[in-house]
Amino acid sequence: MNKLRLGALGLGPRGRNMISAYSSHEEVEIAGLCDLFDKNLEAALLKLNNPSLPVYKDFDEMLDECQMDALYIAMPPTIQVDYACRAMERGLHVLCEPPCTYTTDECWKLVDTVEKTGIQYMMAEQLRYGYCFKQWREMYDSGEFGKMLFVEGQYTHYEKWGFYTHRETGDVVTDLENFEADKRYSDIKFDTDKKFQASDFTTNWRHDTFSHPIYYLPHELSPILSVFNDRVTEVTCYGNELEVALMRTEKDAIIRLMTAFSTYCHSGHWFHFMGSKIGVESSRIGYDDFAISVPLLWTKDNGWEKRPDWTYAHTDAEELARNSGHGGMDWYPIRNFVNMILHGGPNTMDVYRAVETAAPAIIAAQSCELGGVKLQIPDFRAKYGRDINKAYKI
Ligand SMILES: NC(=O)c1ccc[n+]([C@@H]2O[C@H](COP(=O)([O-])OP(=O)(O)OC[C@H]3O[C@@H](n4cnc5c(N)ncnc54)[C@H](O)[C@@H]3O)[C@@H](O)[C@H]2O)c1
Repeated sequence: MNKLRLGALGLGPRGRNMISAYSSHEEVEIAGLCDLFDKNLEAALLKLNNPSLPVYKDFDEMLDECQMDALYIAMPPTIQVDYACRAMERGLHVLCEPPCTYTTDECWKLVDTVEKTGIQYMMAEQLRYGYCFKQWREMYDSGEFGKMLFVEGQYTHYEKWGFYTHRETGDVVTDLENFEADKRYSDIKFDTDKKFQASDFTTNWRHDTFSHPIYYLPHELSPILSVFNDRVTEVTCYGNELEVALMRTEKDAIIRLMTAFSTYCHSGHWFHFMGSKIGVESSRIGYDDFAISVPLLWTKDNGWEKRPDWTYAHTDAEELARNSGHGGMDWYPIRNFVNMILHGGPNTMDVYRAVETAAPAIIAAQSCELGGVKLQIPDFRAKYGRDINKAYKI
């Protein structure tokens, strides 16, 4: 295989952005696109500057006709597992946006399908590839942290989210009173002349799942668990408009994580790791361009020190990475996916790691609904035995 023939399923804002970035990989050929709505397909073709690409509105047709080796999925996380599994059953490797699922049954379905088919499944979570996490992973592996005792993280992202999708056109609006377009769809011309009615719209996955912001936890758990190669074993969670989960891990660390999407507050990611020997902290907000505080190191000898070198972006990153979204990290999932399939590289976010970020989030939401009771997380690798000390390197 000289080039990876990649199909794309789901061409909302995320799918269009990523497929355009992926098309610039010299070993990727975009094989075809599939979405329910003409408008999204047209916008994607425009972005790719390739009007002759095969397009499909029906995934079964795409599966039958499109000449592809792998599938990139950026569709609603509430439904994508079924599509991922059908693709794997047909021998297609899958690269899928996070969160991979919102039910534990689907976590098992993903794991079972990967084990049965032997096909590669990778979750395209990008934050774990940040430079600071790479540094902290190496420090943890060399024993600098000692035992990991406590980890904190948070992801807050306030937007006026598009909760309603037009059944026929795919237009997304933020409310059903004035039909204001979701600004994330700004590269699509919104048909304001049309007379809309509330009954023309259906609620979408954002409407149905953002009431539990903790569901979006995989973006925090993915980098956190990659640093000290661990998995969550139990969780409890409380919430109001935002949700806060407390977790215990297999290596006996305690993790406290908060997520919020509809609370009008500062936005961004933040991380803090406290080992028995040292502690580290990321900048307080967003990515490097917007960082208003400096990453920190705490040691017994020197106390707190500023570590401005612990950026998210890799200073030696290739140009395509530097130009990619989310502080330059969006490039790494596709780079690693292509390297894995064409050159036998490692799967840096395999199905186990994917469900180990999804299940604690799903079960945290259940805990919240039960008033904060402590719940156990299944061990998805138990069947095959787990080597928790196997170092994980990118
Ligand atoms: N990694 C990140 O930082 C990041 C950022 C944003 C979104 N995401 C993830 O990307 C995914 C997509 O996000 P989005 O904001 O673009 O969502 P979206 O709902 O706007 O887009 C999903 C697309 O899937 C299409 N679709 C739905 N059902 C389909 C079907 N049966 N067949 C073909 N197409 C179908 C819809 O028409 C839509 O265009 C989600 O899983 C989200 O969690 C990840």
